[in-house]
Amino acid sequence: MTAYTTTRLVFFSPTHTSARIARAIGEGIGMGRRIETDLTLDEEDTPIHVENELTVIAAPVYGGRIAPVALQRIKRLKAQHSPAILVAVYGNRDYEDALLELHNTAVELGFTPLSGAAFIGEHSYSTPDMPVAAGRPDSSDIQKAFLFGQDSLKKLENHPELPALTVKGNFPYKEFSPRNSSVPECTDACCACGICIEVCPTHAIRLNDGGDAIETDTERCIKCCACVKECPNGARTYYTPFTQILHEKFSARRESEIFL
Ligand SMILES: Cc1cc2nc3c(=O)[nH]c(=O)nc-3n(C[C@H](O)[C@H](O)[C@H](O)COP(=O)(O)O)c2cc1C
Ligand code: SF4
Ligand code: SF4
Repeated sequence: MTAYTTTRLVFFSPTHTSARIARAIGEGIGMGRRIETDLTLDEEDTPIHVENELTVIAAPVYGGRIAPVALQRIKRLKAQHSPAILVAVYGNRDYEDALLELHNTAVELGFTPLSGAAFIGEHSYSTPDMPVAAGRPDSSDIQKAFLFGQDSLKKLENHPELPALTVKGNFPYKEFSPRNSSVPECTDACCACGICIEVCPTHAIRLNDGGDAIETDTERCIKCCACVKECPNGARTYYTPFTQILHEKFSARRESEIFL
């Protein structure tokens, strides 16, 4: 059996919940060497070669699937049978086929799935008035992610040949809903500081020609709400009728699911 000494944490995480879960799993694994491959702002397309590294791949669920931009960036990874811990992070509604999609993609990329999990993160559309999984992952989620990391490592150590992993989900995957053209907007509180430009994973925001306001490219925007959550002035808002629906129908706390 290969003795692994390095953990690689790979994530795409505009509002940081997938990153926090990945890091807690990494803490649970507890290997001396830990590398982070943060794909959130990384638009490179050069291959990332993974050899003899226990790899954690975490990404958010968008519409019951892995966020398409995340999946596209994850496809830069090229592995040679390295074991992978696969994690879908969702906003307390459902993750439907996302974990299976991540699992199947990891196999195509040359990974050997070791374990899988679905964790809950504050919904990107959550607002103070209409919270949806606000504050998650909380300390209980982080503790579960830590234990999941420990248990995944134990499984790896106890199985020289990893058995096939089964995770929840269906193929063909859920179809995406038709794209709508709404994007976050700014109130008068916007001072054109440009912080949202730096946190936007798809470079959808730019300063206008006068340099006194920002403009959003509706085609590039993936509605991740990083700009909304990072604006220091609370000047960026995203109105969608989904927020109220999510708040009314999907506020009951859901818990993480583990596949070992
Ligand atoms: C466009 C979009 C679609 C989403 N679809 C779902 C969904 O189908 N189910 C769900 O429970 N949460 C959904 N979410 C919420 C995110 O999965 C959740 O907030 C996640 O924690 C975000 O991860 P991040 O913090 O790593 O960016 C969606 C969020 C966005 C922006
Ligand atoms: S971060 Fe907020 S204040 Fe700064 S440019 Fe963006 S919307 Fe305006
Ligand atoms: S402009 Fe769109 S893609 Fe960019 S951070 Fe805001 S919501 Fe995300």
